[in-house]
Amino acid sequence: MKHLVSVADLTKTEAIRILDTAMQLDQVTEHGAKKLPTLRGRTVVNLFYEDSTRTRLSFELAAKRLSADVITFSAKGSSVSKGESLKDTALTLQAMGADAVIIRHFASGAAHQMAHTGWIKAHIINAGDGTHEHPTQALLDAYTIRRHLAPHRQDFEGLTVGIVGDVLHSRVARSNIGLLSALGAKVIVVGPPTLMPVGVEEWPCEIRYQLDDSLPELDAIMMLRVQQERMNGSFFPSVEEYSREYGLNRIRASRLPDHAVVMHPGPMNRGVEITAEVADGHRSVITEQVANGVIVRMAVLYLLIGGGAHD
Ligand code: CP
Repeated sequence: MKHLVSVADLTKTEAIRILDTAMQLDQVTEHGAKKLPTLRGRTVVNLFYEDSTRTRLSFELAAKRLSADVITFSAKGSSVSKGESLKDTALTLQAMGADAVIIRHFASGAAHQMAHTGWIKAHIINAGDGTHEHPTQALLDAYTIRRHLAPHRQDFEGLTVGIVGDVLHSRVARSNIGLLSALGAKVIVVGPPTLMPVGVEEWPCEIRYQLDDSLPELDAIMMLRVQQERMNGSFFPSVEEYSREYGLNRIRASRLPDHAVVMHPGPMNRGVEITAEVADGHRSVITEQVANGVIVRMAVLYLLIGGGAHD
C-alpha cells in the first residue's frame, strides 16, 4: 500500500494490520516511550484546504511522535489564495522533498488526484475529501470499537453498528460503512430519506428511516454531524424536528444495550444530533476517539512511510 485515499485501498488483512500496529504503539507509549525514532529524517506535510481541529492536530502529533519533520500548510494564508492550482502546489511540495502529504480538501477526488497523477512521488493520505471519504477517521473509529467491544478479536462478526443522521454529506459515514462491513460488522444506517445519498441501497449496510426501534440492536451508535455548511437547500423542516426524530437524547440512549457505546466524529452540534448530557455521559467514547486518532495515525504513518508494511 503506497497511498491511503479510500478504505477500499485496504484489504481486510491490511486494515487489521493497522489496528494491531496501533494497539502495539498504544502499549509502547503507555509504557513511557512518548517519542519513537521511526520517521527521523522524513518530511510529512499537512496540506489543509478545509478547516480541521482533530485531524490536523492529531496527524501533526502522530508525525512528531515518530520523529518526522512536520510542515503544516493551510490554504488560507498561502499562495492558494492567489489562485495557485493543486498541481503547482504538489510540484512545489515535490521540489521540497516531501515524503508524505496528508491532504484535506473540499473537493471529492482531490486526494485521488494527488496520489495518481504523477505530480508528486510522496505517499498521499486522505484526511477528508469533500463528501467522499475520511479513511483514517474510520480506522480510529474501528480501533475504538475494537477496544471496547472486541478487545481480543480481529474481526467484528456479531457486532451491530448504527450510523445515524446526515449520511448524504458524510465522508465519515462512507468510510465507516466500507471498513466496518469489511471487518464483519453489521451496519445499520438511519436517517431521513432526504439525507440519504442516491444509490445508498447498493452500499454494504441496511437502511432505516426510523431510529427508535433500532436502538436495542446496537452495540455502538455513531451520531453524524448535521453539515449545514454543505446544505444548499432545506433537507428537513426544522432543527427541532430533526432532533426530535433523529437526535440522541437521554431517553433514547437508555434504550441501548448496557454495553453499547456512543460515538461522534466531531465537531458536534450539541443539542441537534446529540444532547450535551449524552455527549458527556457514561456511554460516550467521543474523547477517546480523539485520543485514538493520534495512535491510529501513528500506525498509518509507520506502515506507509516507515516501511513497516514490508516487515
Ligand atoms: N472528525 C474530524 O474530521 O474532525 P476535524 O474536522 O476537526 O478534523
